[in-house]
Amino acid sequence: MSDNLELSHQKKRAFQPHQLSAPRDFSMPSVLLNSELPLVLEIGAGKGKHALSFAQQNPDKHLIAIERTRNKFEAFAKLAGQQNSSNLTPIHADAIAWIVHAIAPRSIDSIYILYPNPEQHNPNQQWLNMPFFEFLLSRLQEGGEIVLATNIEAYMDNAEQQVCEVWCLPNIRSQIASSSQRTHFEVKYLARQETCWQLNIKKPASYQTRFDD
Ligand SMILES: C[S@@+](CC[C@H](N)C(=O)[O-])C[C@H]1O[C@@H](n2cnc3c(N)ncnc32)[C@H](O)[C@@H]1O
Repeated sequence: MSDNLELSHQKKRAFQPHQLSAPRDFSMPSVLLNSELPLVLEIGAGKGKHALSFAQQNPDKHLIAIERTRNKFEAFAKLAGQQNSSNLTPIHADAIAWIVHAIAPRSIDSIYILYPNPEQHNPNQQWLNMPFFEFLLSRLQEGGEIVLATNIEAYMDNAEQQVCEVWCLPNIRSQIASSSQRTHFEVKYLARQETCWQLNIKKPASYQTRFDD
C-alpha cells in the first residue's frame, strides 16, 4: 500500500480510546483469555437471530455478539441460554467501549454489522464515518473481513465511498438475495420487497492504523 493511501485515513481525527471508561460490570470473557477458535464479532446483534444460527453453523469459530438495548439483549440471552452453544458469547454493552476494553489488536477474524441504525440525521454516528472505525480495523487480523448490511441506499453509498476514499480498503458491494433470512430486520425488509445491500470489506496484509500496538 502506498504512503498516500496510508495517510488518507490517518488524516482523519484520531479516535481517543483512553477517554472511554470500561462498561459497567465489565469482566473479560474467558474466551478472550484462551481462545482456540478464530474470534468473530457481531455489533448490534438485536435479538440474536444471526448470532444463534451463525454459532450453530460455524462450530469452528467463536462469536462474541454485542447488543446495547436491554430488552433486545434479554430476548437474545434467553434464546442463547436455551441453545447453549459453547462457541457463542452474548454481551450486553455499548460495543465501542466494550471493544476498546476487551479486544486486542489483530485478534479478530471477522466482524458483522447487520442493519445498523440508519443515523440519517446524525451521519457522524454511521459506523464508517466514525473515528472509532480505525480502532475497529486495528482489531482485525490481516486478511480479516467486515460484513456490513443495510436496506438504506444512501447509507450503503456513503459506506462504499468512505471505505474507498478514507479507509482505502478493498471491498465488494452486492445485493442480498431475497431469500436471505439472517436477521429480524433482514426478514422484515425483504418481505416488503426492499432492496438490501452488503459490503464485504477486507483488511489487507500490512494495512496500518494508529492503534496497532
Ligand atoms: C436496526 S437494529 C438491527 C438489529 C439486528 N442486527 C437485525 O438486523 O435484526 C440495530 C441494533 O444495533 C444496536 N446498537 C446500535 N449501536 C450499538 C452499539 N454502539 N453497541 C451495541 N449495539 C448497538 C441497537 O440497539 C439495535 O438493536
